[in-house]
Amino acid sequence: MVSFKELGLVNTREMFAKAIKGGYAIPAFNFNNMEQLQAIVKACAETKSPVILQVSKGARNYANQTLLRYMAQGAVEYAKELGWEHPQICLHLDHGDSFELCKSCVDFGFSSVMIDASHLPYEENIALTKKVVEYAHQYDVTVEAELGVLAGVEDEVSSAVSHYTKPEEVVDFATRTGCDSLAISIGTSHGAYKFTPEQCTRDPKTGKLVPPPLAFDVLDAIMEQLPGFPIVLHGSSSVPQEYVDMINATGGKLPDAVGIPEEQLRKAAKSAVCKINIDSDSRLAFTAAVRKVFAEKPGEFDPRKYCGPARDLMEELYKHKIINVLGSNGKAE
Ligand code: G3H
Ligand code: 13P
Ligand code: ZN
Repeated sequence: MVSFKELGLVNTREMFAKAIKGGYAIPAFNFNNMEQLQAIVKACAETKSPVILQVSKGARNYANQTLLRYMAQGAVEYAKELGWEHPQICLHLDHGDSFELCKSCVDFGFSSVMIDASHLPYEENIALTKKVVEYAHQYDVTVEAELGVLAGVEDEVSSAVSHYTKPEEVVDFATRTGCDSLAISIGTSHGAYKFTPEQCTRDPKTGKLVPPPLAFDVLDAIMEQLPGFPIVLHGSSSVPQEYVDMINATGGKLPDAVGIPEEQLRKAAKSAVCKINIDSDSRLAFTAAVRKVFAEKPGEFDPRKYCGPARDLMEELYKHKIINVLGSNGKAE
């Protein structure tokens, strides 16, 4: 058993309380490799932004949970080396799908876990979430739960259709489970294809797809039921068109990829939404930068020469999100 406190990590309790009060959101960035982690830590150290490092089941399968945990521990030291005196870094299990997985992360030094039982019937979601909360809280590890279903397909997270969170259920759910934060469904979705072209309209000037707006009325109703309770948005990548264009211009094929407009995330960040999950945008930045190097220098074969530019572009992306979308810069001086 290793406590996250020994590793210099923090849980989400204080982060979220401050974020709700201050009208900003904490970035929750997924990482699967060294370059992503370096870019996240550099961006957060430079902007003095608290951050949640997320490890998904797919990331564990790809990179190994032990390695990822030590990398997160190293991230705290790296942050200090970069001049960030008091780094506020949370290590979080993204989309945990069983009690055993959540327990193993708690025991291994994670400071926060998500138990995603949103696909189960309501009472089963409550029972599993409660079991995880009871275990995690013994070690001061915070727990994110989910009510409602997001649409979208990724490696380990998939559902064909979304079901908005029912505001009339949230008080009962939060009270009976004791969860620390609640991921809700209000129209965001995972991946780079958040909406089908049929769900969107087209901007007559640019021909680009314009996605349907998030259901802010559902968010408002949830906040009315649970005043001051930390709310989480998954599937919040914006799918920047510049990256999609870079990818498509260099032989890639991402037709009609579309995300959540940043304007809507900015609005959400000012509310009780205090954690915003971004993964796909980082994947797009990485891919766009690597493709550009290969297109311009077909003879390149030193991975540092294409992973380096990818890291730079991701750092730029993370800083942009922190400063211009979430407003978390300067909140972890
Ligand atoms: O919400 C899912 C995250 O983007 C992680 O995706 O399971 O493909 O690692 P993944
Ligand atoms: P995106 O696919 O929109 O980046 O969402 C990531 C996420 O929700 C991770 O849990
Ligand atoms: Zn998610």
